[in-house]
Amino acid sequence: MKHVFLLIPILLGCATSSVWAATDPVLEITYPKKEAIVYEEELVSIVVSPQHEDVDTIVMTTDSSEIYKVHVDKNRTHYCHNFMLHLGENIIDIVAMRDGAAMKTFQRKVFVTSKVYKEFHFAPEVFQKSFLHTDAQEKVCSKCHNMSVNEIPGTAFEDVSQSHCFSCHVKINFKKYAHAPSVNWLCTSCHNGKAGSFNAKDANKTKFLVADPIESVCLDCHEKKAKLWKNKRFHHEPADSGRCNKCHNPHASDNTNYLRKPVWDLCTGCHKDKVDGAHVVKTFGRKMHPTHNIKDPSSKQGDELSCVSCHNPHVSNAPFLLQSDTLMSLCSRCHKK
Ligand code: HEC
Ligand code: HEC
Ligand code: HEC
Ligand code: HEC
Ligand code: HEC
Ligand code: HEC
Ligand code: HEC
Ligand code: HEC
Repeated sequence: MKHVFLLIPILLGCATSSVWAATDPVLEITYPKKEAIVYEEELVSIVVSPQHEDVDTIVMTTDSSEIYKVHVDKNRTHYCHNFMLHLGENIIDIVAMRDGAAMKTFQRKVFVTSKVYKEFHFAPEVFQKSFLHTDAQEKVCSKCHNMSVNEIPGTAFEDVSQSHCFSCHVKINFKKYAHAPSVNWLCTSCHNGKAGSFNAKDANKTKFLVADPIESVCLDCHEKKAKLWKNKRFHHEPADSGRCNKCHNPHASDNTNYLRKPVWDLCTGCHKDKVDGAHVVKTFGRKMHPTHNIKDPSSKQGDELSCVSCHNPHVSNAPFLLQSDTLMSLCSRCHKK
């Protein structure tokens, strides 16, 4: 009789530790809270927190097959990982595992927009803008990360890993070329929390907002350009509207001048008709004038011919933003006779 009573508590003990209802939280997705979010950077961080003692492993996989697998340590509450994304919709599956089997699967969708390619200008409506740096969200992170700003304006860090922003954002500068203020971790020289006329609706949604348009921030440091450009007769629309970041990545890039794409791809991203449309010589002959894949005869450094061999990307005194004052003087830069 006695041992029957003993058995019951043992069975109950087993039941509470191994059976879980489908409604149990199992895992909390601490960030991003929203299931479908939109970003401009090609990086996103996922932060999760196991809510059930049986979770022994967490596996996260992106649709471009990047896998992050971490074993749960009972003394740690949160796990964080930064993923590289591609333009458009990215799907990230997050699986809480026990003994090699999935307990529960979660999903986050991230849409990366592009300022160059029309098809990625806007995300479908289900995707919403989300910001991390609010007091409420930072409170969770600050258990383990220092969330304060330790930047001295205008002074580069001697050891950039000392920047409080470094531990989470390190990958932002992982490109061939990195822009001085970004690679020196002077993040708040641009992310000063101020909104511009295009993003006034985001004012106060994050401590580190950056003004859109960004021009005045860029020209604060690039003063010489400001003076040089002001009095020119013709201005290129995307530069004139102050949206320097349409063409330049403010942080880093694999292309010179921190361009979002190599010059030819950048220009034809917006000017699609120039990929193979009649150009330059339509008034002089039938054949299309080359715009790439050949050396630029006017370049002393031996650069490739591209759109900027003939056009200034920002301003000009000649119509069509030509690099020379007149059409004829343009031709003679490369055609001697
Ligand atoms: C605890 C990690 C962490 C630290 C520390 C951190 N960030 Fe972030 N930050 C994030 C995450 C996560 C996002 C959301 C974007 C993403 O998923 O990568 C983000 C987003 C941003 C954004 C976009 C706006 C927003 O609020 O979402 C800016 C700008 C930014 N961080 C700047 C900074 C600066 C400047 C510092 C240093 C003073 C800093 N961050 C420190 C994790 C961190
Ligand atoms: C329990 C402690 C803890 C908490 C809470 C925590 N983190 Fe982390 N985080 C870490 C540790 C430790 C690392 C270093 C990498 C590692 O060991 O996973 C890290 C790394 C990161 C990274 C870099 C990951 C990578 O792939 O380079 C990001 C981004 C990050 N944390 C964001 C956050 C955000 C955002 C929050 C708040 C929502 C947060 N963390 C809360 C402990 C924590
Ligand atoms: C030269 C100005 C400049 C500097 C310096 C700079 N940023 Fe940015 N950042 C921008 C602009 C402009 C954007 C808006 C989106 C874009 O153009 O990519 C942006 C976007 C971001 C985003 C994505 C926000 C979103 O919602 O998509 C993050 C995260 C970010 N910056 C973090 C940082 C961190 C961390 C640093 C320091 C290492 C830094 N930035 C330095 C100008 C700057
Ligand atoms: C805090 C000062 C600062 C701000 C703000 C700033 N820059 Fe720069 N930028 C520099 C410095 C210093 C260099 C030279 C070193 C280098 O190439 O990174 C530079 C270099 C560049 C270059 C490479 C060509 C050159 O002249 O050397 C480009 C392109 C550029 N910046 C564009 C921008 C754009 C676009 C913005 C606004 C989104 C911006 N910068 C904002 C300081 C700044
Ligand atoms: C339409 C795309 C586009 C826009 C918008 C744009 N740029 Fe540029 N920028 C370029 C290209 C392309 C180059 C490289 C030119 C070359 O290789 O000759 C360049 C080069 C530069 C350089 C370094 C070379 C030079 O001209 O001295 C600076 C600095 C610069 N841009 C700043 C800015 C600033 C500041 C803004 C916003 C007011 C801006 N750009 C807007 C395309 C653009
Ligand atoms: C983000 C989109 C975008 C990018 C990238 C872009 N342009 Fe433009 N461009 C425009 C818009 C908008 C106009 C004005 C409307 C139009 O004529 O299509 C324009 C106009 C022009 C004009 C005609 C100016 C005039 O006075 O008639 C030239 C030439 C030009 N762009 C050359 C370039 C070159 C060269 C590049 C690459 C360095 C480039 N564009 C990159 C959007 C862009
Ligand atoms: C060899 C010099 C040269 C090259 C290279 C060149 N252009 Fe042009 N572009 C011109 C001239 C000259 C005009 C004036 C109108 C004409 O003759 O078509 C012009 C006009 C334009 C115009 C305005 C009129 C129109 O046809 O829409 C745009 C936009 C333009 N170019 C974009 C580009 C882009 C984008 C590239 C690179 C793919 C490029 N150009 C390469 C010389 C050049
Ligand atoms: C930045 C240099 C550059 C400028 C400026 C330039 N061209 Fe050219 N052009 C070239 C190159 C390179 C070729 C190809 C030569 C070859 O095939 O050997 C070429 C070829 C041509 C051809 C022959 C087409 C063919 O495929 O055989 C004509 C015609 C021509 N250009 C007319 C002009 C006219 C007119 C202008 C002024 C509006 C002009 N070019 C401005 C570089 C330039």
